[in-house]
Amino acid sequence: MSTARSGVAARTSFPRWPAWSTVPALHPRDVHVWFVNLDDPGWPEARFARSLSPLERRRAARTARRRDRRDLIIRRGLLRLLLASYLASRPETVGLSTGASGRPEVVDAAGEPRLRFNCSRSEGGAVIALTAARRVGVDLEALRDVPEAHRIAERWFTPREQRALAAAPTDRRSEVFLRSWTRLEAAVKATGEGLTEGLGQWDPRSSIGAGSVDPRSGRAAAPSVTWSTWTLEPDARYVGTLVVEGAGQRLVCRELVADPVAER
Ligand SMILES: CC(C)(COP(=O)(O)OP(=O)(O)OC[C@H]1O[C@@H](n2cnc3c(N)ncnc32)[C@H](O)[C@@H]1OP(=O)(O)O)[C@@H](O)C(=O)NCCC(=O)NCCS
Repeated sequence: MSTARSGVAARTSFPRWPAWSTVPALHPRDVHVWFVNLDDPGWPEARFARSLSPLERRRAARTARRRDRRDLIIRRGLLRLLLASYLASRPETVGLSTGASGRPEVVDAAGEPRLRFNCSRSEGGAVIALTAARRVGVDLEALRDVPEAHRIAERWFTPREQRALAAAPTDRRSEVFLRSWTRLEAAVKATGEGLTEGLGQWDPRSSIGAGSVDPRSGRAAAPSVTWSTWTLEPDARYVGTLVVEGAGQRLVCRELVADPVAER
């Protein structure tokens, strides 16, 4: 982001995640997070569209705005490519289905996950987080002005988060809000606890510890808690949060810059 806006301070010389086009093996302890620039004109939209399931194609066809339709095709096409690379399969034959409450998943004949993953997108960027067997949730938000931040915070944030928001300097208010928001969304997506019931009685973040990613290497040491959480900043335009079941994970963050090729 090159110019300061109300609620969002400019971030300059911001390190990006390492760019890769190969998919490393996913060991039991691993969490792989891929950032993709959906706006890259180099992604093969027509080929990605052909790899989609009939259901995904119908969803794309129902998406009225051209940009939203392309966005959907690229992120689903890339998700299929990545899953196919990890599962030694082909994008069009990856058995992507929709689980409880709309969550995409890949399960075997017995209904068990073949691996676990979660996705999030915001304003031209997307993240895909994958693990062999641990539950995972991820949320990404483009840094932008959020005029209604205080109103949303009153409804969804913990008292501590509300205090932090109130204390934030004006030019950082939206960023502070978006960081808390991604923590909430990632926890909701990892734990499977819906937002709609309200979090007054139970907060999915309460059992989650804190950690951070070294953006230069894309790695981080995990805190030892039941759920582990990391702040994600794939580049200067975005903030995000990753929540993963358990502790002791090995986190590897990359930007996907071309069709992935599995390392064998
Ligand atoms: C589901 C929800 C968390 C998605 O968040 P969002 O900020 O709107 O959008 P994001 O880009 O971050 O995430 C969308 C992706 O999350 C994934 N997703 C969808 N439903 C999901 C669920 N129930 N749990 C986890 N991930 C889900 C999908 O991959 C989806 O991408 P897709 O459009 O390509 O299929 C959000 O719509 C929400 O909070 N809804 C409130 C209703 C609710 O609580 N639902 C149950 C959540 S467990």
